[in-house]
Amino acid sequence: MPERAIGVFDSGVGGLTVLKEMLRLLPGEELVYLGDTARVPYGTKSPHTVLRYAVEAASFLVDQRVKMLVVACNTASSVSLKALEERFNLPVVGVIEPGARKAVTLTRNGRVGVIGTEGTVASAAYTRAIHALAPDVEVYSAACPLFVPLAEEGWAEHPVAHLAAKEYLAPLVERGIDTLVLGCTHYPLLKNTLRQVLGEGITLVDSAEETSRSVAEMLACRDLPRPNPPGQTRFFVTDIPTRFVRVGGSFLGCPLDSVSQVSID
Ligand code: DGL
Repeated sequence: MPERAIGVFDSGVGGLTVLKEMLRLLPGEELVYLGDTARVPYGTKSPHTVLRYAVEAASFLVDQRVKMLVVACNTASSVSLKALEERFNLPVVGVIEPGARKAVTLTRNGRVGVIGTEGTVASAAYTRAIHALAPDVEVYSAACPLFVPLAEEGWAEHPVAHLAAKEYLAPLVERGIDTLVLGCTHYPLLKNTLRQVLGEGITLVDSAEETSRSVAEMLACRDLPRPNPPGQTRFFVTDIPTRFVRVGGSFLGCPLDSVSQVSID
């Protein structure tokens, strides 16, 4: 079982921010990444639809005989974790709880901001996860839908991104948050812009980084680390790979060589 790969899925290219952190922290592991590029975005879809997509993506990975599932997509994590745990007899790590945990440890004034897709914000999954750990922390959320296309366009530090960030974040800044959870796969690419807009007083929580730490912890506590490093990574997508290869290379910071197209529905 420890020899097996870890399965990671996302709605598309964004989950590569999580994969990148996993490659850094767990270079000995085999990884299988699935981007559901035929049906992206998940962030504007209903919970019912996202849950169905998540089950189909996870089923594909389970068929690859993975030892663990990582739901890299915040929108999918916010609606599907319990269902995936119940359906597949495997450890499942999502991105919500790790980010929530870090935010609770970092906040000094008990006011935490969360940004994500419309679906993630509407689900209130981060709010629930934070309140489960620290009921008194005040959570203020904002959907930032333009950040996803800006990151994919390579405009994460463009003046347009600054303008959008100012508009989206103003209500959270007004509430006096001292910690901001980047609750979407794409947002780590906007860190510089967000830091400039927010200034030094607000700490950013990168869910991708926190998730890779949780994966490492889960592997260790289940005795699952792979004994024979180094590991390899295989990539699958549900639409033609052209765009995934182009945009994904910049998300991952290295070229994506072998990407296969599959059908999962
Ligand atoms: N991966 C999604 C997330 O983290 C963002 C892109 C989408 O809407 O599918 O919520």
